[in-house]
Amino acid sequence: MLLRFISKEALVGSVTIGAVFVAGFYFGRRKSKRMSDSKSHSGGKDNPLVQYVLKHTLREHPVLQKLRERTMEDSWNIMMVACEQSQFMVNLAKLIQTKKAIEIGVYTGYNTLNIALGLPDDGIMIACDISETYTNIAKPFWKEAGVDHKIDLRLQPAVKTLDDLLAAGEAGTFDFVFIDADKEGYDSYYEKSLLLLRTGGIIAIDNVLWGGKVLNPQPDDASTVAIDKLNKKLHRDTRINLSMLTIGDGLTLAIKI
Ligand SMILES: C[S@@+](CC[C@H](N)C(=O)[O-])C[C@H]1O[C@@H](n2cnc3c(N)ncnc32)[C@H](O)[C@@H]1O
Ligand SMILES: *[C@@H]1O[C@H](CO)[C@@H](O)[C@H](O)[C@H]1NC(C)=O
Repeated sequence: MLLRFISKEALVGSVTIGAVFVAGFYFGRRKSKRMSDSKSHSGGKDNPLVQYVLKHTLREHPVLQKLRERTMEDSWNIMMVACEQSQFMVNLAKLIQTKKAIEIGVYTGYNTLNIALGLPDDGIMIACDISETYTNIAKPFWKEAGVDHKIDLRLQPAVKTLDDLLAAGEAGTFDFVFIDADKEGYDSYYEKSLLLLRTGGIIAIDNVLWGGKVLNPQPDDASTVAIDKLNKKLHRDTRINLSMLTIGDGLTLAIKI
């Protein structure tokens, strides 16, 4: 399965590349995307440790595997969540007995499918995106995996969907939210998600290290500024317990108190 990702030759070559990568990280010389974008299918493709993690832990449902392979054909596949991160989030969501989940930024639906597979049969995943093109790629795979009845896709700006849920009286009823859409929207996604969440529910926020750019946010780089601002805000936020993981491109877990 792993060898579909990366050829044997690339694996051997990656030892050297990996060493350079690690050295660059520790000596702080690299400010490029590589620094923290260690998703197994993009920045971490040449990182032997990331590939080791994948090789020794990934248990991918056959339809998920097919969807990943289909997604790799898309030119924006760097947007896909890392499969090892997705599996971690499913484990987490199941630990807290998630029945109601929200995905903000669906793309080709890999993580939406993974979470939906982990939901009980009467569970629900509210899937938010604005792209019909990307989510049309997802749909046949959701159906094939037999979980499409658990996925409620809402094609409109995610803020509107979250406001609709709040207006429908669903505050305090959700267990798990994954925020992974436009970075400038993160703060309002976080605030609205926190209202929708029950106590002990979890908001997982992706790309919080933004390829290492958070170390040196440039004023004209709105995405980096937004992420860094939210990271600092969450550190002080007494409404949540908090962890930031260096998995993938950085993942924050905010647990509602
Ligand atoms: C990084 S991708 C999501 C990856 C996905 N979570 C996965 O499992 O692979 C970001 C997605 O956010 C969507 N998006 C961008 N702006 C949005 C908005 N305002 N509301 C909802 N979705 C948005 C994009 O269309 C894109 O599909
Ligand atoms: C948050 O952390 C505090 C301190 O460790 C702990 O007492 C509390 O139970 C935690 N709350 C949740 C919802 O995890």
